[in-house]
Amino acid sequence: ARTVNRDDAGVLTVGGVDVNKLAAEFGTAAYVVDEADFRSRLRDFRGSFSANFPDGAVYYAGKSFLCKAVARWVAEEGVNLDICTGGELATAVAAGFPGERLAFHGNNKSEAELAAALDAGVGTIVLDSRIEVERLTRLAKQRGVRPGVMVRTKVGVEAHTHEYIATAHEDQKFGLSLEAAVKAAKHILAADVLHLKGLHSHIGSQIFETTAFEVAARRVIGAHEQIQRETGKTLPELGLGGGFGIAYTTQDDPQSPRQLADGLRKIVDHECDNLGIDIPSITVEPGRAISGPTTFTLYEVGTVKSVDLGAGRVRSYVSVDGGMSDNIRTAMYGATYSVTLASRLSDAPPILGRVVGKHCEAGDIIVRDEFLPGDIKPGDLIAVPGTGAYCRSMASNYNHVPRPPVVAVADGTARLIVRGESVDDLLNLDVG
Ligand code: LLP
Repeated sequence: ARTVNRDDAGVLTVGGVDVNKLAAEFGTAAYVVDEADFRSRLRDFRGSFSANFPDGAVYYAGKSFLCKAVARWVAEEGVNLDICTGGELATAVAAGFPGERLAFHGNNKSEAELAAALDAGVGTIVLDSRIEVERLTRLAKQRGVRPGVMVRTKVGVEAHTHEYIATAHEDQKFGLSLEAAVKAAKHILAADVLHLKGLHSHIGSQIFETTAFEVAARRVIGAHEQIQRETGKTLPELGLGGGFGIAYTTQDDPQSPRQLADGLRKIVDHECDNLGIDIPSITVEPGRAISGPTTFTLYEVGTVKSVDLGAGRVRSYVSVDGGMSDNIRTAMYGATYSVTLASRLSDAPPILGRVVGKHCEAGDIIVRDEFLPGDIKPGDLIAVPGTGAYCRSMASNYNHVPRPPVVAVADGTARLIVRGESVDDLLNLDVG
């Protein structure tokens, strides 16, 4: 469903609009979102999961990228929304997102955030600690409401991904061990103030091994069975989290939503059958797998510098008008991106390039190693694909660089969905 192509002159286009036009109208750096692709990924996940789990739901993980326009796309395509802060909640509310279709995650939701969630009628609050159980119980009693909740578990799976985004081993901050989660669940059921829907597991992000998801599902279903057996109560829902990997380079080989859903269905069926329990409604929360591939960052080349690596090898440092402030992922996780010359075609022989930003540190690298046409020069536009997830949402103002706009393109029309910042926006925060 991607609408990214080259026109007859070799200029990159998206949604029927060429990048030279986009740069002229919106400036660079800019995040460019293919709206049709975003919507089709939402539909694809919803369709694939509802075919396997008719009572389940797909939640788009807003942390990967959220603004009001995206929240509306999500609502319109029949997908629910995963939020994890008061800020994301406020964005959903401002977009008119139905409260009952929101799930509120996070390991340290404040009283104010939980109160705001109750006011907004959030459908599910995923509790991460005993303190949070007590905090929400108190608030719910005060208000005389009975919010739906889940308990976040860590299932002890070592998912193979970067340490900072692996979340199912014991020694990290999220969730309760299975044993503690079972206890917390029984406590919630006994107190009978909150409506316990079930347990939740999220093992990490950018994961390709289906066995990691399978082991996690098996363990959390085991805990479900134990709670049901020991309390005689039914837990209607089971959260299996997100984390489905995407292809940043041609070496990655992700599964389709259909393959993921079919695979999970087999495991869940088998495990529930084995334990003799009814199949709960399954929820999943893909973020990156929906938003990631839909977007590229458009930069203008500012300088090109050739560096002698010795032994006759040379590397071209291509500096662009952005950097680690709009894409921290390379510096932070060693992420790999590709890059393409977007404003023209070139048949110059390729050279080894490194795309770097304008920030004051050597680690300000966007694309570490990639071949680029040898005649790349200032004024060229380049596109870094796959930047729809965790780039704008993790962007900063390092070195007082304003954050770039987000432009959505569909059917030959481009429109701003997030305005780019100006230096005045930044100065307005200074007091005195
Ligand atoms: N559900 C929960 C509870 C999560 O914590 C996350 C991601 C997701 C779902 C969505 O995961 P996804 O499908 O997008 O992988 N900043 C890092 C990723 C952090 C992920 C945080 N939690 C990165 O840039 O790779």
